[in-house]
Amino acid sequence: LTAKFNELARKNAEALLGGGEKRIESQHKKGKLTARERIELFLDEGSFEEIGKFVMHRCKDFGLGEEYYLGDGVVTGYGTVHGRLVYVFSQDFTVFGGSLSETYAEKICKIMDLAMENGAPVIGLNDSGGARIQEGVISLAGYADIFYRNTLASGVIPQISAVMGPCAGGAVYSPAITDFIMMVENTSYMFVTGPKVVKTVTNEEVTSEELGGASTHSTKSGVTHFSCANEVACINNLKQLLSYIPQNCEETPPMLPYESNGDELRSKLNEVIPANPNQPYDMREVIEELVDTDSFLEVHKDFAENIVVGFARLGGRSIGIVGNQPAVLAGVLDINASTKAGRFVRFCDSFNIPLLVLEDVPGFLPGTDQEWKGIITNGAKLLYAFCEATVPRITVITRKAYGGAYDVMNSKHIGADMNYAWPTAEIAVMGAKGASEIIFKREIAEAADPEAKLQEKVDEYTRKFATPYRAAHRGYVDEVIMPEQTRAKLIKAFKMLENKVATLPKKKHGNIPL
Ligand code: COA
Repeated sequence: LTAKFNELARKNAEALLGGGEKRIESQHKKGKLTARERIELFLDEGSFEEIGKFVMHRCKDFGLGEEYYLGDGVVTGYGTVHGRLVYVFSQDFTVFGGSLSETYAEKICKIMDLAMENGAPVIGLNDSGGARIQEGVISLAGYADIFYRNTLASGVIPQISAVMGPCAGGAVYSPAITDFIMMVENTSYMFVTGPKVVKTVTNEEVTSEELGGASTHSTKSGVTHFSCANEVACINNLKQLLSYIPQNCEETPPMLPYESNGDELRSKLNEVIPANPNQPYDMREVIEELVDTDSFLEVHKDFAENIVVGFARLGGRSIGIVGNQPAVLAGVLDINASTKAGRFVRFCDSFNIPLLVLEDVPGFLPGTDQEWKGIITNGAKLLYAFCEATVPRITVITRKAYGGAYDVMNSKHIGADMNYAWPTAEIAVMGAKGASEIIFKREIAEAADPEAKLQEKVDEYTRKFATPYRAAHRGYVDEVIMPEQTRAKLIKAFKMLENKVATLPKKKHGNIPL
């Protein structure tokens, strides 16, 4: 009997070593943690239960028949984060470079299936050389099995990918389908084809970091939602992100206990809007004043900075925020801002996270670059995302709400539940000067003093339209409030809306303009 028990102990110890001491050492030398160390950091202490620890590959080709590792390059199982169930797979670079085999894919699929049946998030910690080259198409089939599950699980359970090493070729498409991607600076990269192939095909010289490092994907492509300084920061970020999100689409996000300590009036907000409407201010300052202290987690911080999106808590309630950012490009909507915000809105709506929109938008960005790249189709994504969102939706217009962008930014007409405006709001088709130049063109040209005439007309237009009152008279704005009242109003309104029931017409699925 002892011999049998000892055999189990020996196998367990062997599995814990993955590809062996030497490869673990080389992993550490690269500044990376091992697959198991990452799980240890991520899950509540002692909560990890492993599944498939002794799984081995079945390939006999190219010498693999003589090389086996228990677990086959991916550590899978379940545990808890802040006491809540999560499923996790962690790719082990020390075993065949973390490359994906048939059995490796089966292990991942197994926990994905469990996650779907039990309604809990799946977190992937990625560090892999891609398809196990020796297995050929069998490995590719394994990827497809995962992509298929990723897609079916989308909108049912949260799926998050942390990329902590290489992630190249077909391997990128599983993270791409998941809800959020995090990357670690300097030690991770993602690309469909690597620098060598790029050189052969396009003759471009580019390093892995430039082509697909964390800074590239957090600023240029927007592929990653978070760029983290190191693995520990990445894992902490992952845990914080999970805290705003429910376990599945049938649940609401966890609510933190909240007791008002009487400081809901935020007089600082009365000072935020500059006297000159063309002067910028930072929408993040507004957000900080509105939400519970230090609760804002910004998503896509360095991408399309003309719009700010992220999670926060308001009176203990988890909410998603979309805010135009007047400090960057005057807060104009362009292609990247529309797709960034559109995707965020859809995530929140999928998982019952109420939406707050802070609006100061002068319109869509004009120009051939935007038109030729499809601002029409891409801007429509944000419009569509708001229109179909059934979660509680509140808008606060802080200043400009011009043109089509007024409609798009969660207007009453497309289903927002509560629309507030500050007295500084200007709700109009366009700015007063542009408007006057068009509608009073002839009058101005024929005037003895065209300059003075223009100014007179601008003043007239401003008095009539550069205010929130036209919209408030119609009920397009429910209440015009002092900026300092906003936090208190929002806490009450989100509570009032917490049992909202809204359904979409029966359909297979809509056809969002992709
Ligand atoms: N299939 C099988 N084994 C792989 C592998 C793969 N896709 N990728 C890496 N490995 C193995 C290596 O043979 C090596 O084995 P060893 O420890 O027995 O020597 C080990 O994993 C580590 O790889 P190595 O190349 O030494 O690590 P690195 O950090 O220098 O480079 C990569 C990492 C990912 C850039 C490099 O391994 C690579 O280019 N891999 C192939 C990527 C690819 O084209 N994948 C298929 C397309 S999806």
